Amino acid sequence: MLRVIAIDGPAASGKSSTAGLVAKRLGWAHLDSGALYRALTLAVLDNIGEGGRGKGDAWSGSRIVAVAERLPVRLVLVSEEFRPEVAGVDVEGAIRSERVTRHVSALAAIPEVRTWVNAQQRRAVEGVKVGGGAEGVVVDGRDIGTVVFPEAPLKIFLTATPDERARRRLSQRGEAVDGEVVRRESQALAARDAADSNRRIAPLKPAPDAVLLDTTALTLEQQVARVVELARGLFPG
Ligand code: CDP
Ligand code: CDP
Repeated sequence: MLRVIAIDGPAASGKSSTAGLVAKRLGWAHLDSGALYRALTLAVLDNIGEGGRGKGDAWSGSRIVAVAERLPVRLVLVSEEFRPEVAGVDVEGAIRSERVTRHVSALAAIPEVRTWVNAQQRRAVEGVKVGGGAEGVVVDGRDIGTVVFPEAPLKIFLTATPDERARRRLSQRGEAVDGEVVRRESQALAARDAADSNRRIAPLKPAPDAVLLDTTALTLEQQVARVVELARGLFPG
């Protein structure tokens, strides 16, 4: 049995925080697939530039994959957390910038980019199984249950209202959570969700056998406890 828990959902629904805490409680590793798309976006913006999009083939899938391989862009396992690296530098902080957030969905819609990212994820999960240590991997993203690990025995799809997600993202960044700012953040999240849901390849949607969890009225602790309980029922040991 594949020891993978897939956690998918829209932006700022709590995927990474939930996945990280569930992994800790189970003694598993955590892989945030969005961090790899973000690291690749950062590398492309710095090495190809945003002006490239739409002009000739500057943002072609093959050119992006070549940049990813050359630098390289990769995931490195540190204390059971896969961390994104570009050219040997940890970029976990840099990939959360507004500039990366603005461009990441366009890059993630390119088929060759997704093929490359998916191969990195599958290799990372195989490495954990071979290397021992963690007993499994909690992977979070948009298409983990539908495309990357459709055979995962436990698939969770997290949701929360757009305003609640906007408030969470603003508090996470340490910003004021007032009416107008919430409205703007909520619109930005909705635009990214629309781009991720409407793309032709691997759109954001729940797998048919995913457990849907609306977290709007839950605390982080409550949703973590729920996923851990489901996992303990499914994974022996
Ligand atoms: O943390 P947040 O929800 O803001 O986003 P993220 O998980 O860091 O993902 C950033 C972007 O990467 C998403 O908006 C998607 O465009 C893309 N992504 C994807 O297409 N497939 C995944 N499995 C994960 C992320
Ligand atoms: O990965 P994703 O973009 O889906 O969400 P995240 O980066 O985990 O951000 C969610 C933020 O909301 C974090 O600061 C969590 O602590 C917070 N939060 C939550 O995830 N779930 C709740 N029920 C309440 C708050």
